[in-house]
Order: sequence, then structure tokens, then C-alpha cells
Amino acid sequence: MSTIRACIFDLDGVIVDTAVYHYKAWRRLANELGFDLTEKDNEKLKGVSRVRSLELILQWGGLTKTKEEQEALAAQKNDWYVDMINRMTPDEILPGAKAFLIACREAGLKTALGSASKNSGTILDKVGIAGLFDAVIDGNKVSKPKPDPEVFLKGAEELGMPPAMCVVFEDAIVGVEAAKNGGMKAVGVGSPDVLYEADLVISGLNEMSLEKLYLL
Ligand code: G6P
Ligand code: MG
Repeated sequence: MSTIRACIFDLDGVIVDTAVYHYKAWRRLANELGFDLTEKDNEKLKGVSRVRSLELILQWGGLTKTKEEQEALAAQKNDWYVDMINRMTPDEILPGAKAFLIACREAGLKTALGSASKNSGTILDKVGIAGLFDAVIDGNKVSKPKPDPEVFLKGAEELGMPPAMCVVFEDAIVGVEAAKNGGMKAVGVGSPDVLYEADLVISGLNEMSLEKLYLL
């Protein structure tokens, strides 16, 4: 009998593809500051908090900014990002994500969101799946960034589940590491070359099933 009783999902890149909106907003900011951001640069920002992302981007552009200037730049990026996510619709849920969430709940498993984003509430509302989570832990509730396991441990706690009974779904290397650091199983969503520390790697939740979950 499987010990798995709960699934904790990252948001960006697992449930919805908001990485493209983050990229557009960060790129616009970089362009206004006089340099460009490549898609490869953007990969390094996945799972990374807003403040830390800005620090990295300024470093890549060779720029130094005061704390106040950094706050204004991060706020500007977020305004552009929020404009984009406010226009999101339910058809932007990644293939298989909603069906797998429903399957988990019907099987009696608990579900939680574990994301670094402070905008997760808006996104869940816009795509219409807020009701499919028993707990939502996001950037507003945690202070330690992935690979620290804080976000997932809080999720397990709110669900009332020991970490060993939880599986985390993550598209970021730091996210897989956070799950492992928290004593949880990790399913990588993306490429096995990148997410090799995960217990299982799938290309998207459309490849996931309860059968595969119970084998973890
Ligand atoms: C997720 C994304 C990151 C993003 C972070 C914070 O982890 O993968 O790219 O920077 O959330 O998002 P926020 O919406 O709070 O700026
Ligand atoms: Mg992610």
C-alpha cells in the first residue's frame, strides 16, 4: 500500500505557463535599463523570488541600484506582470493539470499549492481552480526561498500530513531540491537532463496518473 496521502504543486510551469509573462515583464524592464534578457537567462529565474530575480538581472546588466531604486524597479515589473495575469483565462491551465488535481481529490488525497509567487491568488482565481486546493502556501506566507523546504513543509503542516506522505510537483531545480530537503518525494515537470534529482520526471501533468503516484 502506498504511503502517499498528499500532493503539493508548484504553480508557475506546473499548473500554468506564467514563465512567459515573467519573461516578458523582466525583459521589458531590462530593455528600459539598456540591455537584453535571453530565454536562457530566464531559465535561471524559474522558482526564484521577485527580489532575488531583480538582483540577478541587475548583476547581468552590470548595474548597481540603491534599495529604493530596486523596490521601484521590482514594483514596475510586477505592475506589467499583473496586467498580463489579469487577462488570463481558464484555457491557460497546462494540459492535464486540472484533470490530475480532480483525480487526486476524488481519490481522497489532499492537495496544496507551494509557490514562491505573491500573485498566486490572482492566477488561481483567473484560471478558475482556487477551489481545488486544500491549502495555498505562496510568497506571502514564506520567507525562505527554495531550495529551503519552508514552503512545502508549511503546505504539509496545513494539510496535517507528515512530509514523508507528500509528493511535490516542480519544474525548477531549486524546487525539486526544496522537496528533497523537506523529506518529500519529488516529481520533476520538464526535462530529465535538468531535473535528475527528482524521483520521477514527466513532461507535463498530462503524463501523470494515480498509478504512477502510488509507485513512488
Ligand atoms: C515563481 C516563478 C518566479 C517568480 C516567483 C515570484 O517562483 O517561477 O519566476 O519570480 O514565483 O513571483 P511573483 O509573482 O511574486 O513576482
Ligand atoms: Mg515553477
